[in-house]
Amino acid sequence: MNQQMSSLPIPSQVIETLRSAGHVAVLTGAGVSAESNIPTFRDAQTGLWAKYSPEELATPQAFRRNPQLVWDWYAWRRELVSRADPNPGHFALVELAGLVPKLTLITQNVDGLHQRAGSDDVIELHGSITRIVCSSDRRVAETWSEAGETPPRCPDCDSYLRPDVVWFGEALPTQALHRAFQAAETCDLFLSVGTSALVHPAASLPFTALERRTPTIEINPDETPLTPHATFVLPGPSGQILPALVAGLKN
Ligand code: OAD
Repeated sequence: MNQQMSSLPIPSQVIETLRSAGHVAVLTGAGVSAESNIPTFRDAQTGLWAKYSPEELATPQAFRRNPQLVWDWYAWRRELVSRADPNPGHFALVELAGLVPKLTLITQNVDGLHQRAGSDDVIELHGSITRIVCSSDRRVAETWSEAGETPPRCPDCDSYLRPDVVWFGEALPTQALHRAFQAAETCDLFLSVGTSALVHPAASLPFTALERRTPTIEINPDETPLTPHATFVLPGPSGQILPALVAGLKN
């Protein structure tokens, strides 16, 4: 049984748990960028998967079948991301990292907004939409042309270029996954922020922490499969809850 709390101001028990933590691991999902006007995936009306089919856009098979459609969809999302700015939730995580002895930031987001807010050493489990790689050998392409044929071709081997994101059916980057699980296993506080906690292996991270009896806080306006198990639940938008958490820690 967890403590479903009224979120603002942050309950003192949550602040005390945060204050006594030596290593905080944070997992973020699309919800943390919702207040930057980047659509989430599974929110009923506004989520990307309510309008588009992942099978047609986010699998290696889809790219083989219709590379232009997939490239153009990611080009559209890259454009959205380039016009977006980090929100108070992203900035609060930068500040939090300076207030606790150690913080490991793990994200499922491909938008780079944590880094643009100032977070260092972000573990990107699902890659980055702004990085473009060769679809054959995954080497990063420094430049490519948006004009002409899409997808553009790799200057070295003429294969199509693709975004450096993890598609359904693909493995997550080994090193990032290893570091993420290591953090979940060794932290003494786990924060799950703005994720539906449905997509594995990322969704297993808070449960890995809970198995070790590590206190786990969920920040999300909606319930998720993690909600009944989390030690504390702070229901609400991360752009408000995270700054309040940081303010509570500073008081
Ligand atoms: P989802 O779209 O599945 O979940 C977003 C979560 O954010 C939901 O639980 C919302 O309730 C919550 N949310 C919405 N607005 C919020 C706000 N302002 N503050 C906090 N939370 C808010 O996104 P993810 O969990 O990130 O993978 O999805 C995981 C993966 O599934 C993605 O990385 C992507 C997707 O398919 C790939 O593309 C491989």
